Amino acid sequence: MSFNHSHLLNTKQFQKSDLEQIIDFSHDIENHPEKYQDLLKGKILSTLFYEASTRTRISFEAAMIKLGGSVISNPGMVQFSSVSKGETLKDTAKVIGSYCDIMAIRHPEKGSVEEFSKGSDIPTINAGDGIAEHPTQALLDMYTIEKSLGRINNFKIAFVGDLKYGRTVHSLVRLLRRFDNIEFVFVSPEQLKIPHKIAKKTNHRNTFCMNDGIQDVDIIYMTRIQKERFKNKKEYKKFVGVYHLNKTILDTLGDVKVMHPLPRVDELSTDLDNDPRSIYFDQVKNGLYVRMVIISLLLGHKKREKKSSLLCSSPVLD
Ligand code: NCD
Repeated sequence: MSFNHSHLLNTKQFQKSDLEQIIDFSHDIENHPEKYQDLLKGKILSTLFYEASTRTRISFEAAMIKLGGSVISNPGMVQFSSVSKGETLKDTAKVIGSYCDIMAIRHPEKGSVEEFSKGSDIPTINAGDGIAEHPTQALLDMYTIEKSLGRINNFKIAFVGDLKYGRTVHSLVRLLRRFDNIEFVFVSPEQLKIPHKIAKKTNHRNTFCMNDGIQDVDIIYMTRIQKERFKNKKEYKKFVGVYHLNKTILDTLGDVKVMHPLPRVDELSTDLDNDPRSIYFDQVKNGLYVRMVIISLLLGHKKREKKSSLLCSSPVLD
């Protein structure tokens, strides 16, 4: 995709080469943040959240500030914006575009951020649209895997939990399909199975049983049951505590990395927090670098290459 002044709405937009570029740029921003500290001076990011968030919103805002830009945030769009007066998403987008240079939106309805982008003259980033997609989480998950395994192909990954409503799973599976030789195991109750349209193009198997699903994998990606997506709370309660990973279980498996997009509820024990195999807090940190990259690319800035020594002028001797 051409990043320059585009919207980032879903993972379908990416070619494999875009993903490789994002990984490479993320390493550079992580290792040399000083090269980018004034990159976006004078630019403004607006974060508009119609749904709860901790990591996503704060990391977008921190990312913009670390690039030298500023932030205008509305984390309570439902109560504290003209939505409460009936303003459409498209009109809101038009208005925000008059004041800011780029925006990140989270909304509980599938397709809503795309609708928003139709009214927007500035790059619009999907920070989660209902059960559909969470593309920037998938990018930071991809970067975390690449850093942790030293590669982004030839591995086996088990996704555990609510694979029907979990948008981070949907986006990450779609994104990993671009790479070679990745085996997927989808561990979920029958009622919370991954949608067929997402799983179909992968080398995968489905199972209900976690003990079976997490054998011989390189990565376990735990997720919480997405309480807010259930219309019937009794139905949600049926799945509470259905899966749980702790140190005793992990110690039967050997060197397997544990990921989780967070927040966790009861599916991931805190006794894993200091285990070197746990990389869920690395995901949190990597979110900052990857979001710095995304904002930079969408505002037309690429990785800054070191000047080649051949280009350095040497004194001309007569
Ligand atoms: C996820 C989300 O909002 O989809 N959280 C996040 O952005 N890190 C996962 C979740 O809420 O379960």
